[in-house]
Amino acid sequence: MTPAPPATRVILTGFMGTGKTEVGRRLARTLGRPFMDTDALIESAAGRSVSAIFAAEGEAGFRARERQAVAEACRVAAAVIAVGGGALLDPENRRLLLAAGPVVCLRAAPREILERLGEARDRPLLNRDGTASTAERLARIESLLSARAAVYALASHAVDTDGRTPDQVADAIRAILQESGGSA
Ligand code: S3P
Repeated sequence: MTPAPPATRVILTGFMGTGKTEVGRRLARTLGRPFMDTDALIESAAGRSVSAIFAAEGEAGFRARERQAVAEACRVAAAVIAVGGGALLDPENRRLLLAAGPVVCLRAAPREILERLGEARDRPLLNRDGTASTAERLARIESLLSARAAVYALASHAVDTDGRTPDQVADAIRAILQESGGSA
């Protein structure tokens, strides 16, 4: 009998509000794998929130920290890794993550993203000072989504999340991973 292929990591990417952290936590639990979330790694290394990092160090400071967090997460064997929505924009992150295992992009419609994020102030790219109107936030979501479409398209799989619970999305990912070579 051929031995089962070694379990690789599973990476979840996609825009803010697509449920990467929630889905990743559930997926890791059902697969019996460690779960790594790059935003959580960044916050614990910095001792402050993502918003506070953006405010004090700018986006460049956050991205430098994000590169370290991605490298750290990729060192954990067989982990399910949820990365921040902008992580794949960085060429070094792309190289590491695409080599680390299947990359699954979670998708949601702009209006659904807007609704899920609500007035959230913890997404500095959408609402830095908490004063953006609904229309401004929607326009920002649409323009970031189109600017990022090419990097999200590099993912090996895409899963729509509109109208699905995190458990349903995690189930869909497990099914995809099994179909695509038993790496789960
Ligand atoms: C970002 C997404 C956020 C966080 C930071 C930047 C982005 O993570 O990393 O605010 O560039 O899309 P989530 O995608 O988990 O919200």
